[in-house]
Amino acid sequence: MAGIYIHIPFCKQKCFYCDFYSTTLVKNKSAYVNALIKELSLQKSYLKNSLVETIYFGGGTPSVLTYGELMSILNQIYNVFDVADNPEITFEANPDDLTHDYLKELKLSPVNRLSIGVQSFFDDDLKTMNRRHNAAEAEAAVKLSQDVGFHNISLDLIYGLPKMNNQKWLYNLNKAFNLNIQHLSAYHLTYEPKTVFYNYLKNKILIPVVEQESIDEYQTLINKTKQEDFIHYEISNFGKKGFFSKHNSNYWRQEKYLGVGPSAHSFNNTSRQWNVRDTNKYISFIENEILPFDSEILDPGKQYNDYIITSLRTMWGVDLAFLRETFNEKVVSCCLKSAEQYIKTKKINLAENHLILSETGILIADKIISDLFIIDDEVF
Ligand SMILES: C[S@@+](CC[C@H](N)C(=O)[O-])C[C@H]1O[C@@H](n2cnc3c(N)ncnc32)[C@H](O)[C@@H]1O
Ligand code: SF4
Repeated sequence: MAGIYIHIPFCKQKCFYCDFYSTTLVKNKSAYVNALIKELSLQKSYLKNSLVETIYFGGGTPSVLTYGELMSILNQIYNVFDVADNPEITFEANPDDLTHDYLKELKLSPVNRLSIGVQSFFDDDLKTMNRRHNAAEAEAAVKLSQDVGFHNISLDLIYGLPKMNNQKWLYNLNKAFNLNIQHLSAYHLTYEPKTVFYNYLKNKILIPVVEQESIDEYQTLINKTKQEDFIHYEISNFGKKGFFSKHNSNYWRQEKYLGVGPSAHSFNNTSRQWNVRDTNKYISFIENEILPFDSEILDPGKQYNDYIITSLRTMWGVDLAFLRETFNEKVVSCCLKSAEQYIKTKKINLAENHLILSETGILIADKIISDLFIIDDEVF
C-alpha cells in the first residue's frame, strides 16, 4: 500500500499565518506542471511493488490548476505507477476558486474528496488572516461542491485566533456542521517564524489568546464534534465513520509515500527525503533529470521516535505489540516506564496493549510525545 502527494506551490496571495511552501509567482505554472510530470517518471522506482491507494493534491493551492493540468498529472500517475481501483484522490481547494464551472470540470476528473480551506466564517477574521475570500463565498463553495456531486468534503478551520472567543468558535463549528460535511480538520493557530502573524506577535500588533481560552475552544470542539457523531481520530482531525482521510491515516500508520514537487517529503520506512524548497531551482534540476532532494537514513532510534510522534496523535495510539515485533522487549519497557506517570494521572489510557492519549492528555500531547522518546541508542 502506498500514497502519492503532489505539492502545488502557488498561492494567489499569501495568508498571514501560513508557512507552507508556496510562491505568488503563478506565471511559472505550466513549466512547473511539466516538471512535476517529469519527476513522477524519474521517481518510478520509489514505489515499485506497491499499490497506490491514495493520491493527495496539497499546497499551496491545487485549485489554481486548470482541469487540463490536473488531468495531465493524474494521467502520468496512472501511466507510471500501479494504482488501485477507486483510489482516494483528495484535492485541497480555496473557496474562491470553486466556481460552478470549475467544480463541474473537477467532477469529470477522478478526484473524489475535497478539502476546502474555510478557516473562519467571520469576515473580520478572514481579513485579519489575509484570506482571499469572505464567509459567504466559503459557504457558497461548499454548497456548489455538493450540487455538482461531491459528497466527501472536509473543511479546514482555525481556532485560537486573536480576538476569537468560545461563542465565535461555536458559531464557526455550527456553520460547518450545518453544511452537512463529512470531515473536519481544526487546527489551533500557531505563530510560525517568518510569517506576518509572527511579526505582528513580536510587535504586539496581535495579542494571542490566553491559555484558558485555547482550552475552552478545544473543549467546545470536542463536545460539538461528539454531538455530531464525528470521530476524533487524530489530534486535529474528525470524521464521520467511513470518511477519515485514508491518505493522512496512512502517514500516521507509517505506510510508504512519495511526495513530488518542491518541499515535498517522501518516506519508505528506512529513509526519509525532502525536495528543495524553491520552485525555480526545482524546475531547473528536474529539466536536467536531477532529483533535487536531501535525505536521511532512519536508524532504529529515529524509527521509534517517528512512530511515537505519529501514532500517539491518533485514536489508535502506540501499539506495544508492534514495538515488540519491530524493536525488542527493552524498547517496550522503556516506553512503558516513561508513560507510567501519565497513565497514573490518566493522561494516557493503557488498553489492550495500546497507549492512547486521553482528552486531557491531548492538551499536553507535545510534552508527552517528547517524554516518550528514547534517546539512548543502546536500547535498540
Ligand atoms: C496547506 S494549507 C491549505 C490549503 C489551501 N491552500 C487553503 O488555504 O485552503 C492546510 C491548512 O493548514 C492550516 N494552517 C496553515 N497554517 C496554519 C497555522 N499557522 N496555524 C494553524 N493552522 C494552519 C489551515 O487551516 C490550512 O487550510
Ligand atoms: S493557507 Fe493556503 S492559500 Fe493561504 S498561504 Fe497557505 S497554502 Fe496558500
